Amino acid sequence: MFKKDLLKGKRILITGGGTGLGKEMANHYAEHGAELFICGRRENVLKNTADEIVKKYNTNVSYQTLDIRASKDVDDYIQSIFDDKPLDGLVNNAAGNFVSPTKDLSHKGFDAIANIVFHGTFYITHSVGKRWIETSTKGSIISILATWIWTGSPYVVPSAMSKSGIHAMTQSLAAEWGKYGIKVNGIAPGPFPTKGAWDRLNPGDNDDGMMSTVPLGRVGEMRELQNLATFLMADGCDYLTGQTIGLDGAQYLSGGGTFSQLDKLSDEDWENMRKLIRDANNKDKADRS
Ligand code: HXC
Repeated sequence: MFKKDLLKGKRILITGGGTGLGKEMANHYAEHGAELFICGRRENVLKNTADEIVKKYNTNVSYQTLDIRASKDVDDYIQSIFDDKPLDGLVNNAAGNFVSPTKDLSHKGFDAIANIVFHGTFYITHSVGKRWIETSTKGSIISILATWIWTGSPYVVPSAMSKSGIHAMTQSLAAEWGKYGIKVNGIAPGPFPTKGAWDRLNPGDNDDGMMSTVPLGRVGEMRELQNLATFLMADGCDYLTGQTIGLDGAQYLSGGGTFSQLDKLSDEDWENMRKLIRDANNKDKADRS
């Protein structure tokens, strides 16, 4: 889909880049020539991913253990990168989430998620953005959100609240930082199963019809996420900013309409429905005449 050198010369930081969606995007960026920085909480995971990518794509990959909840550590890390040379791109991918009835959440449980997703994402974005402004560097920020920023979602309330906040940050900073050449966008993936997310959102593979709500009838393919993340990171679409793009096979829209359940009707069901409607119309006409 893209030229192999599309991202050549770009230095991109991916938070949570050692696993899951972050690792998938890291691979695609490296394949297209980018130099990478990945951070996360587990050193062995980061090292394995970095080694793997270097071997496959022969590009530079640096890694750093970091909990994005620790604002000072975040700022020190970003400074250490900029001491060498500014970044060009940031992917806010690190997140925390688990399904739970909201009444059973402890405040610490809420904070664990809000501190990662809401606060941590801001700390990173702020640390990178202010240095871009100081050094007059253009940059691109992509935050990995979720479609529940538009719909809300039961059982993942701390994540829905926090990711909605980052969506608001996306819109706000696109407006505030556009004049500095910084574009800010989000991707709201639907179901793209990864171990980290599915262990916590679908434990025991208890898919009670989750997939049946996706009109395309399948989960997302990683290449679909990779392609969008690369398109948003590349030069050539600078006018696209302040947007969160849903990538969910229309899953969230399919639940929204009053008549979306009609999707399940067969041709025969429709024929019967048409007959019933015609019969009702004819009866009305007969009553009027
Ligand atoms: C209720 C829970 C819980 C659960 C943890 N807690 N899991 N409460 N149900 N299943 C509570 C704990 O009891 C504790 O509160 C508090 O949360 C903190 O737990 P810790 O384990 O000490 O926290 P920590 O080690 O900081 O871990 C953070 C975490 C964890 C968020 C809880 O899940 C994590 O590290 N996640 C990172 C990876 C991840 O979540 N990936 C999925 C992202 S998916 P008490 O009061 O008991 O002390 C995503 C959207 C995907 O973001 C969209 C798909 C469509």
